[in-house]
Amino acid sequence: MTTYRRVVLANRPKGKATLENFRLEDTPVPDLGDGQFLVRTIWLSLDPYMRGRMDDGPSYADPVKVDETMTAGAVGEVIASRNARFAVGTIVVGAFGWADHAISDGEGVLAITGDEVPISTALGVLGMPGHTAWIGLNTILEAQPGETIVVSAATGAVGSLVGQLARLKGLRTIGVAGGADKCAHAVDTLGFDACVDHRSGDAKDLRAAIAAEAPDGVDCYFENVGGKTQAAVLPLMNTFGRIAVCGLIAWYSGQNLDQGLITPAVMRKILVSRLRVRGYIIFDHWDTYGAFRKEVAPLVAKGDVTYKEDVTDGLENAPQAFLNLLEGGNFGKQLVRVGADPT
Ligand SMILES: NC(=O)c1ccc[n+]([C@@H]2O[C@H](COP(=O)([O-])OP(=O)(O)OC[C@H]3O[C@@H](n4cnc5c(N)ncnc54)[C@H](OP(=O)(O)O)[C@@H]3O)[C@@H](O)[C@H]2O)c1
Repeated sequence: MTTYRRVVLANRPKGKATLENFRLEDTPVPDLGDGQFLVRTIWLSLDPYMRGRMDDGPSYADPVKVDETMTAGAVGEVIASRNARFAVGTIVVGAFGWADHAISDGEGVLAITGDEVPISTALGVLGMPGHTAWIGLNTILEAQPGETIVVSAATGAVGSLVGQLARLKGLRTIGVAGGADKCAHAVDTLGFDACVDHRSGDAKDLRAAIAAEAPDGVDCYFENVGGKTQAAVLPLMNTFGRIAVCGLIAWYSGQNLDQGLITPAVMRKILVSRLRVRGYIIFDHWDTYGAFRKEVAPLVAKGDVTYKEDVTDGLENAPQAFLNLLEGGNFGKQLVRVGADPT
């Protein structure tokens, strides 16, 4: 093998990202240096944060450079190795990028097995999104039994686990999701007490629908989207309520900026209801990954926690799948199957 395929950032989007922002290309496979190994990608993870990496500007992480491989977590198989810790045949998860092969020195790479759960879960329910859900619910919101929680993007990679863990903890769980199918899944499969469709009606309608499901008000809001959902939920917050600002996907492409802006009325609500609003980035919590996995992996293995994956085939289809994700076209954790799964 002399070349591999990768997707690079061709140019930076202006507003909404488009297919023209990406380029699929062949690139030479470099010789392995001491301590390096070659990974064949099996599963590629697509995540909303990647939209932020396409822009040049201050953030919590550096942007992807133009003509560089798009960043991504992926699961793959070691197929050549000069690293004693990662022998040929080992299944690994790491930041391998949008590519069908990657060279690694092992930094930030974990060896995994498919013994108890499929290896793809290392990118979803038992990976970065799952960890984000667990930290957000327990550490950021400090959610308590008997409280009411609203979760936006409720059927997604993060939201679906927030809802299930909150239910297991004894909270009343209200999901917000796009469309009747996603709402039915939230209630029937994920076990939310109720789910409200944000695609029908404006923020006022949404607020009324959530209020009807939250007779005691809202103690915790797990914020994944911003936009009109945020505008709908905020006035329903109880005194001493908590908001975990996990994501703001409705605003990632510079759209909907007239919805849910911080206004004097919002700030007044934060003041008079003594709300705690805390943003967080999962990178600051890697030290708890082991504890998260220890608690949640058995729940997944036993089926107490369920998960849904939305699989697109072929690296060449990753850009379109990513654009769909940003518009809510995914139903469950968005993955790309890049190569055969041997487990
Ligand atoms: N802070 C962190 O460290 C961290 C880590 C991971 C993820 N996140 C954030 O968590 C959020 C969820 O990520 P995920 O990986 O679980 O993605 P996901 O929920 O699987 O997929 C994104 C979902 O966002 C919803 N959405 C898209 N545009 C929307 C809009 N304009 N208004 C309302 N909802 C919209 C769609 O669901 P519906 O069709 O149901 O609306 C879409 O399916 C994202 O904001 C992401 O950036 C943060």
